[in-house]
Amino acid sequence: MIQADNVRILRPAWRERKYRMDERIAAQLPKWRKQIQQLIEQYGDSAFEKVTVSQIYGGLRGVTTIVSDISHIDPDAGIRLRGYTITELLDILPKAEGTEIPMAGGLFYLLLVGELPTFEDAMIVENTWYERSSLPPHLLALIQAMPRNTHPMILFSQAIMALQSDSVFSRRYQEGMHKEDYWEATLEDSLNLTAKLPSIAAMIYNHLYRDGELTSPNPHLDWSANFAHMIGKGDDREYHDLCRLFFIIHSDHEGANASAHAARLVNSTLADVYYACSAGINALAGPLHGLANQGCITWLLQVYEHFKGLPSKEQLETYVRKTLDNGLVIPGYGHAVLRTTDTRFTAQRDFALKHLPDDEIFKLVEQVFEVVPNILMESGKIKNPWPNVDAINGTLQYHYGVREFDFYTVLFGISRIMGFTAGLVWDRGIGKPIERPKSITTSNLEKFIQSTTK
Ligand SMILES: CC(C)(COP(=O)(O)OP(=O)(O)OC[C@H]1O[C@@H](n2cnc3c(N)ncnc32)[C@H](O)[C@@H]1OP(=O)(O)O)[C@@H](O)C(=O)NCCC(=O)NCCS
Repeated sequence: MIQADNVRILRPAWRERKYRMDERIAAQLPKWRKQIQQLIEQYGDSAFEKVTVSQIYGGLRGVTTIVSDISHIDPDAGIRLRGYTITELLDILPKAEGTEIPMAGGLFYLLLVGELPTFEDAMIVENTWYERSSLPPHLLALIQAMPRNTHPMILFSQAIMALQSDSVFSRRYQEGMHKEDYWEATLEDSLNLTAKLPSIAAMIYNHLYRDGELTSPNPHLDWSANFAHMIGKGDDREYHDLCRLFFIIHSDHEGANASAHAARLVNSTLADVYYACSAGINALAGPLHGLANQGCITWLLQVYEHFKGLPSKEQLETYVRKTLDNGLVIPGYGHAVLRTTDTRFTAQRDFALKHLPDDEIFKLVEQVFEVVPNILMESGKIKNPWPNVDAINGTLQYHYGVREFDFYTVLFGISRIMGFTAGLVWDRGIGKPIERPKSITTSNLEKFIQSTTK
């Protein structure tokens, strides 16, 4: 195995080795295309499920609108990425020696190809990312021109758009690319964009919160650790592993959540990966989506401040009941689909138990975990009283000194773009057409219901 800080020595050995993801995807596409074509031919007119009026008015909650084979939320086992649970992935994906958590390069291979990567596969992705990581000068100028009070998600979205001029898909489309080749150009764009994400995010972080200086990726480090390195945490090995963990567990969460759907909708117009991922990031920026993790760490710090330290169990119970009586939710608890403790919470809790058991805010997370589910169950209305990923996310970043809460959604976005792009490549591969659902006026909806319920 390779030591994390020796990756450079071996990089040249991989430099000439082109990634094989295109070959592996190409080998699978004929089977998938045939399978989907047969499904449509045989069952194209079959109704899958009925859609109620409440669903039409209620944000299409629970309506199946998209197929995604990248990930699936299993209510009892948590998110499955290409069929594997988080626990399984942390165990079986390739790791560099001296590190606890797998490299994101292996995860990206898995999401894209649908097959477990070998160590070499993961290294080739990491190497490809490193080779393509440099940012064009106009990007730096763009970020530096923006006022310091700009939200980091705006800068993140702008930076992605500013790279669009290099889109392989757009260039080849103008040149008359055959539609069978769309997915390959999308894969190229996906690798080019994901390669630059740690550098983009670090540039934004340094512009907003540090001295604004630019740091280049360290060839000794993998993609995740390089983000840490570029925000001044190059020597903090524990934080490197936390970045690996964070970027793996947030990478995908089914294909129809707001941000993934936004990305895929835009992509379906044959807009390229840059337009699509920027749209996805814009959706992630909403308080009902990616911003939720901020709410949780803010609440934990409020509790800690309120009691001037850790509360007793009784004090915490009283505080939680009061929060609920005031008509507020307990951030980080509950889930629309999961019916058990979120495995992404568990993975981060295991990390914290090992590395920061004495951190006061983590101790509070533990107390809340002990107290809140029982209280939430008392009401009888909550479907899942267990913690979700946000119940602990911010606590870990806070411990390692990343305390700019607005930035947490950018961290989420770095990871989630791996999921977006894997979905985009496959949408192109199976020839997904432009999305065009239908809207209806209220009066036509009323007339239709009256005519069918008479
Ligand atoms: C995640 C969430 C939006 C899911 O919503 P949902 O699918 O409607 O959840 P449920 O069906 O279980 O909700 C049933 C009831 O329990 C309440 N409930 C759900 N989670 C709750 C929580 N964490 N604290 C208090 N009450 C909660 C709901 O408000 C709802 O009450 P109502 O009938 O009076 O409106 C919700 O659990 C929530 O707001 N959690 C806190 C915020 C959070 O952690 N967000 C990040 C999600 S990853």
